[in-house]
Amino acid sequence: MKIAFVGKGGSGKTTLSSLFIRHLTAEGAPVVAVDADINQHLGAALGLDETEAAQLPAMGEHLPLIKNYLRGANPRIASAETMIKTTPPGEGSRLLRVCEDNPVYEACARPVELDGGAARLMVTGPFTDADLGVACYHSKTGAVELFLNHLVDGPGEYVVVDMTAGSDSFASGMFTRFDITFLVAEPTRKGVSVYRQYKEYAQDYGVTLKVAGNKVQGPDDLAFLRDEVGEDLLVTVGHSDWVRAMEKGRPPRFRLLEEPNREALRRLHAAADATYELRDWERYTRQMVHFHLKNARSWGNERTGIDLAAQVDPGFVLGESESAGAGAGAGAEAGAGAGVPAGA
Ligand SMILES: Nc1ncnc2c1ncn2[C@@H]1O[C@H](COP(=O)(O)OP(=O)(O)OP(=O)(O)O)[C@@H](O)[C@H]1O
Ligand SMILES: [Mg+2]
Repeated sequence: MKIAFVGKGGSGKTTLSSLFIRHLTAEGAPVVAVDADINQHLGAALGLDETEAAQLPAMGEHLPLIKNYLRGANPRIASAETMIKTTPPGEGSRLLRVCEDNPVYEACARPVELDGGAARLMVTGPFTDADLGVACYHSKTGAVELFLNHLVDGPGEYVVVDMTAGSDSFASGMFTRFDITFLVAEPTRKGVSVYRQYKEYAQDYGVTLKVAGNKVQGPDDLAFLRDEVGEDLLVTVGHSDWVRAMEKGRPPRFRLLEEPNREALRRLHAAADATYELRDWERYTRQMVHFHLKNARSWGNERTGIDLAAQVDPGFVLGESESAGAGAGAGAEAGAGAGVPAGA
């Protein structure tokens, strides 16, 4: 399952993603955690000290490796240089799984020990001023998009992305890559305005969007969020002394997290799992191609000097194959004809 946490700066995206990652790991689920936020704090929120966090490899610096691995023997992608962040997989491309070892994880992921197991952590690397402008070609989140666009994930395994709700993810289509998007909102007008903007973008693409209220203190805050967000309000989280202790560098055992907050995490988990039946690999592939063609026209063709539309493999549908690990049996039956092409 692919899950995004988005929201306004400072709303608590990183805090809630990290708690959710701890929850999933404590449940024994395999997790790949991805820090694609402008402020790279997910490692610290998962308990890494400054030195450890600084040593994490940056996905953005391994783009050539990632592209070369993913394009594999796909004849439509002539070189890593002509592969842009939206280039979709096709026959011959290499696909990725949550539970496997591959060169992408080897270069970009590091295990983080948590109560109950370890999660794999990948980070985009720090953003510079240039990244925040229109530098689409070298965008830091491009590596994350390529990862998501080549990922074949099943139920019971999780990719959790901490990301900024910015124009970059709308332009590239990254916001459509998730089974569920949790928008973290404080009970303020600004917090809710990001929700409205996101909702507007999302509605044409079948994005499942739910709101996690954060720093909600008392009935007035709750009433405000209910009024503004209605049915989309899934859970609320209050001020957490557990989080505060963690930030002081003294993380308590995860099972000591306040019960109402643990219950909120269980509900986020259940909501994510419930979206599995909405999985539609054909739509997923179609959207990937849609955004690729859009990016090709707006900047990609010019930058690479070739017609990037030719990278699209019209017969290809990303999806679970019989050998795709956990839950693949059920997936293959449900999505008859939606598997990866012969030989996978
Ligand atoms: N429920 C909570 N209880 C206590 N502290 C919280 C809670 N949620 C967030 N915080 C604190 O608020 C601050 C901002 O949270 P966080 O870093 O998670 O937000 P963010 O949305 O990821 O911000 P940025 O946009 O800077 O990445 C942090 O110091 C965090 O510890
Ligand atoms: Mg953050």
